[in-house]
Amino acid sequence: MVATPRDDRQTARQYHPTAVIDLRESWRIGPVEVPTRLVLAPMAGVSVQAFRRQGRRYGAGLVCSEMVSCAGIEHRNEKTLGYLRVASDEHPLAIQLFGSDPRPMADAARMVEAVGADIVDVNFGCPVKKVTKTGAGAHLLEDQDLACRIIAAIAGAVSVPVTVKLRRGVQNGSRAALELGPKLVEAGASSLTLHPRSAQQMYTGTADHALTAELVSLVDVPVVASGDVTSRARAQAVLATTGAEAVMVGRGAQGNPWALREIVDGDAVEPTREEVAAELVLFVRETVRELGERRASGFLKKFYGWYLGQGRFPKEFKQELVQLDSTDEIERRLLAAAPGAYEIVERLEAEIPSGAELTLELPVSIYGGG
Ligand SMILES: Cc1cc2nc3c(=O)[nH]c(=O)nc-3n(C[C@H](O)[C@H](O)[C@H](O)COP(=O)(O)O)c2cc1C
Repeated sequence: MVATPRDDRQTARQYHPTAVIDLRESWRIGPVEVPTRLVLAPMAGVSVQAFRRQGRRYGAGLVCSEMVSCAGIEHRNEKTLGYLRVASDEHPLAIQLFGSDPRPMADAARMVEAVGADIVDVNFGCPVKKVTKTGAGAHLLEDQDLACRIIAAIAGAVSVPVTVKLRRGVQNGSRAALELGPKLVEAGASSLTLHPRSAQQMYTGTADHALTAELVSLVDVPVVASGDVTSRARAQAVLATTGAEAVMVGRGAQGNPWALREIVDGDAVEPTREEVAAELVLFVRETVRELGERRASGFLKKFYGWYLGQGRFPKEFKQELVQLDSTDEIERRLLAAAPGAYEIVERLEAEIPSGAELTLELPVSIYGGG
């Protein structure tokens, strides 16, 4: 298909860079209604259920799993299947897949749909060697025929929308995403997210959202802008100058759900120590429930610095927490340092669905009965 221009509303926004955009406005990816213009980024080693659930509470309209290996699903790897856990309060949720073979990707997408994801997202942006050398992630920006066959196979296999997350290309200065984007839409993608850095750049330099604006002008599906959005001012500027439907926030939300609230509502009030401790205690508890104590205790270590930094708690306190052996001890220390947090945690706990809603219920026919 030849690229077609966006409808009038989008075009109008694109040419009014000073327009103030309501982040609380809903938008759609196919039939899926997304209640705000803020999407929480998929981040490997970060986007556990606690992160996604917290992101929702603070204003994200759509949350994403981290990238899930198609090969892991194909081989029924227990840890991989764990990523397919969907709770009733997470909708709308996108589960992201990575892989390089259309047929297994389509099978994995069926599984993702069966476990209750609202959207199947596909990763064409991961710059990590371990992934690209298998022909997946950002590698597919340079194998555009295969990329399109993957999307067509997935779109033909599921009834939920299929979305794609891209980097601008592999090499610095590449514009591959602009060539590939319209082809992916033709192949069946219902939305595209662009992180306009090259794979080679990793996270250096800045996200060049001029490319996001170009992509918006080339496709007739919603585009999500990812990269360096950490404040309401930046979100407004990116939306107004690109015509993107939503912004995606990643690193800015690490240990800082309050940034999401500021972006969506303009509420820039700094959290109290009690609020910070309460969110962290809840995060620890939920992650232990999801991953088990052994995996969770290693996984969580990076989060202590993220939550407690920014002058919220003394440096020594963070260093002390990282040394502790069990998450029970961590919770005790946090509640001792901010006793008022206990009440907040109890209130938040009461809102979380429990029991069967949190367990992984894979249909037997898909799980293979084992
Ligand atoms: C630790 C980390 C893990 C990430 N993992 C993924 C991933 O699994 N899938 C993906 O599409 N992007 C992943 N990304 C990229 C982010 O989704 C996002 O596009 C990028 O960080 C730029 O947005 P930001 O400036 O808001 O962080 C990851 C980024 C980080 C920092």
